[in-house]
Amino acid sequence: MIRSVVRGTGAALPRRIMKNADFEGMVETSDEWIAQRTGIRQRHIAADDETTASLGEAAARAALADAGLTPDDIDLIVLATSTPNNTFPATAVEIQDRLGMHHGFAFDMQAVCSGFVYAVTTADLYIRGGLAKRVLVIGSETFSRILDWSDRSTCVLFGDGAGALVLEAGEGGGTIADRGVLAASLRSDGTHKDKLFVDGGPSTTGTVGHLRMEGREVFKHAVGMITDVIEATFSAAGITADDLDWFVPHQANKRIIDASAKKLGIAEQKVVVTVNLHGNTSAASVPLALSVAVADGRIKKGDLVLLEAMGGGFTWGAVLVRW
Ligand code: ACO
Repeated sequence: MIRSVVRGTGAALPRRIMKNADFEGMVETSDEWIAQRTGIRQRHIAADDETTASLGEAAARAALADAGLTPDDIDLIVLATSTPNNTFPATAVEIQDRLGMHHGFAFDMQAVCSGFVYAVTTADLYIRGGLAKRVLVIGSETFSRILDWSDRSTCVLFGDGAGALVLEAGEGGGTIADRGVLAASLRSDGTHKDKLFVDGGPSTTGTVGHLRMEGREVFKHAVGMITDVIEATFSAAGITADDLDWFVPHQANKRIIDASAKKLGIAEQKVVVTVNLHGNTSAASVPLALSVAVADGRIKKGDLVLLEAMGGGFTWGAVLVRW
């Protein structure tokens, strides 16, 4: 059977690093509060010349270089983002043009922080359906542009960045020993749409709007939703937490990551944590964390890796991949 195998990874971060202490003169907060409640120590913030398209392009080029491929080898670009360069066209199309790719097709996916997990699942279906052989899956965000910088309860949490994967069609035997995407589980529930949203948009206010979040409410639902969707993925693949080599969760809050891993029985040393370095980069957080753990040699060919995310909507999901 056809499997979607990871061929390369890449990442890109804005030049400017903003430390927790840099907020102290802007809003009433402290390095200690931010670090204790979230695990975040710093985040990257995009300059005017750094956009979702430029960061996505840089991450895509890094993933292509890692794969030993060029844009000519790619059939499809799926970009997960909630902070597109423009309302339309899709920022994926702009990245396609920046890469000098004038064949194939490209589109954006919007599932907020779960965007990358949705995008990998979608790319896998295009590959297994025979519509594409090689797909660039990108998560790129510039959440700094939609933050209310006077709201301490949200502005300290988010950062900008991009990560990318190249997925390629390969042959598998149909067992979980195969390399590639092995199982996935996606969910959404719009009854929670007002707990984490942006208060503007083309069809309502005609403005871009700012991010609003009832953090405590999101926290309350996060661990249960994450563990449910992961258990569904384990059962689809016929595995348990002990079979995993690495858990790469959405990087929103260290406390949510720790509580989820504990509830699932995933050992602490198998959890990839980068929230301290990047903050919450929404759809970019999982591919950024992946690229860190691949670059430092933790994630290796043949490892069983679980990706997970939960975000606005709510949306949530998990994907199991053999590297
Ligand atoms: N500095 C200092 N104090 C603060 C700050 C700050 N930056 N922000 C809030 N506070 C205060 C609050 O005003 C509150 O004060 P009060 O008790 O006098 O009212 C107090 O700190 C406690 O606030 P809580 O909101 O209860 O703090 P909590 O421990 O829940 O932590 C946090 C807040 C970090 C936002 C947490 O709720 C969280 O991580 N929620 C989940 C966020 C998340 O996972 N989002 C995922 C998806 S993101 C996406 O999809 C885009």
